[in-house]
Amino acid sequence: MRVAGCIFDLDGVLVDTARYHFLAWKRLADKLGIGFTEEDNERLKGVSRIDSLEIILQIGKLNIDKELKLEYATLKNNWYVEYISRMTPAEILPGSLEFIKELRAVGLPLGIGSASKNTPAILERIGISNLFDAVADGNLVSTAKPDPGVFLKAAELLGVNAADCVVFEDAIAGVKAALNAGMMCIGVGEAKVLSDAHFVVRGLNEMSLERLRIFEKEVRL
Ligand code: BG6
Ligand code: MG
Repeated sequence: MRVAGCIFDLDGVLVDTARYHFLAWKRLADKLGIGFTEEDNERLKGVSRIDSLEIILQIGKLNIDKELKLEYATLKNNWYVEYISRMTPAEILPGSLEFIKELRAVGLPLGIGSASKNTPAILERIGISNLFDAVADGNLVSTAKPDPGVFLKAAELLGVNAADCVVFEDAIAGVKAALNAGMMCIGVGEAKVLSDAHFVVRGLNEMSLERLRIFEKEVRL
């Protein structure tokens, strides 16, 4: 395989927004009298907004109607948007910018593949919108990872065959989505958690173009 396009998940790969999601979900859980821990929050990574709410309601054994669910999801999002509106470029995860710039220097098309509807706001806040040729996010694709939709859309927008793309992902559901799209997947996080990925690095600070070229030679799709 020769990588012809790179697709990055946003939350947890380029920027650590998990703590803001946690703060906002925790605020909602407290309001509903549901005990919600940082460990519970791990289960929400890569999961859509409404499915995340379902998990929290499940933890609290709370049954509510659809209308109220939408209300709670909106409430959580309003808090989340308030938190991310104060983000700064300093919150970009170590090594991300250097790696992205190295890829851009050799002309590799770069895209975002994220479930988040807040993707444009976050990219804008941390000042990296202009580094990507395509953004496929929750506003464009409604199917949730592990469905491959968001990555296939990113590849389509980049004009690159799915089989020639590599995905960088920190969530188990996201790794599965990349594999379902027929793409090479590099997990970003813990190897024991992301064991389905073709390769795993702890952060993009461990990545370089040279390492990507080594990985592409070894991978069997
Ligand atoms: C994913 C996050 O990227 O986006 C999830 O990992 C989040 O935690 C999902 O629920 C949807 O995000 P948003 O911003 O549209 O609520
Ligand atoms: Mg993620």
